[in-house]
Amino acid sequence: MLRSKKILLIIGGGIAAYKTLDLIRRLRERGADVTPVMTHAAAEFVTPLSVSALTGNKLYRDLFDLTDEAEMGHIQLSRSADIVLVAPATADLMAKMAQGLANDLASTLLLATDTPVTIAPAMNVRMWEHPATQRNIATLRGDGVRFVGPNDGDMACGEFGPGRMAEPLEIVAALEAQLADGPLKGKHVLVTSGPTHEPIDPVRYIANRSSGAQGTALATALAALGAQVTFVTGPADVPPPGGVTVVPVQTAQQMLEAVQAALPADAAIFAAAVADWRVEGASARKLKKSKDGLPTLNFAENPDILATVAQMEKGRPDLVVGFAAETNDVIANATAKRKRKGCDWIVANDVSPETGIMGGSENAVHLISDDGVEDWPRMPKDQVAARLAARLAQALS
Ligand code: C5P
Repeated sequence: MLRSKKILLIIGGGIAAYKTLDLIRRLRERGADVTPVMTHAAAEFVTPLSVSALTGNKLYRDLFDLTDEAEMGHIQLSRSADIVLVAPATADLMAKMAQGLANDLASTLLLATDTPVTIAPAMNVRMWEHPATQRNIATLRGDGVRFVGPNDGDMACGEFGPGRMAEPLEIVAALEAQLADGPLKGKHVLVTSGPTHEPIDPVRYIANRSSGAQGTALATALAALGAQVTFVTGPADVPPPGGVTVVPVQTAQQMLEAVQAALPADAAIFAAAVADWRVEGASARKLKKSKDGLPTLNFAENPDILATVAQMEKGRPDLVVGFAAETNDVIANATAKRKRKGCDWIVANDVSPETGIMGGSENAVHLISDDGVEDWPRMPKDQVAARLAARLAQALS
């Protein structure tokens, strides 16, 4: 899929740049033609010689290099690629991109390009979580920039959390998905998945048994058909798929905000098992056992994310799909749910413990739409996902 594809690789100045050397090898193994651009800070972490030797192509570094401009002007350089990839994308580069600054070669190329841009952010966890970076992330997502990573984990600076650059093979998978040619190419599909965790205090939470398996399988199947997938996931048991934009959240309210920030979308599938209630006024301190009796938890209702999106007056996705996990009267309950929420399709299933569906590898679903009820045979969750993705492609065509 990457064979003969032209990738303009912009390397930012962060310690994760060492992984970019391996990334270049992985891209070239797959036949990609990688043209490298380095910021001046990047050269503090990896040498220009290594980058240019590994890519086998000329390295570009300076905006005002007359030789480069004579050979290939920066406008042409920014537009001749199939994909522009920024790895690592530092907080500084992301801020420049979000603001439209163009004061060096990397930022100028990013402003001048009309090619899809994918970024692999890497920075200290506090920098990632800083409101300024979070604002920039929202702006970049709105501008259509695709994200791969960052991952959670130990960081070179000794801290732990989100901010590690995605691994080279994850970045390769993201680019392959982006270039995948299929019936959903050019379509943006939003998927929610996993449970939500609603805090009681800093160490305890309310949740449910969703593993995230069905939502993950769906996102994989949609990306395989060429869709650009935004995957908003609660804390699931299964790792998120490669090749999609992953937005991790904890609570239902965060999930709603992430969904709203990810719109517009051509279709939205709500596979998450959202907690119906949250604890009102969750304690900022761990609740202690007390002789005076048991703590009282007051509940507040969580927003219904599916209903909110399905009933949007402006910018509603063309196709809104919900799931209905029921333990009795599956079809009747799910049919009523479709009406109540205002979605187009409901994928209904029986999650009684004896079915082994919740947390298991198989699913038996009914697809409920305007056309009535279709009963699908029991099959592995990835086959349910593939079938649903194919139906979605048909409906959007
Ligand atoms: O009402 P119920 O939870 O059974 O509805 C299930 C469907 O609604 C699923 O598609 C689920 O993802 C979605 N949902 C939601 N927000 C909620 C509750 C459910 O998006 N707060």
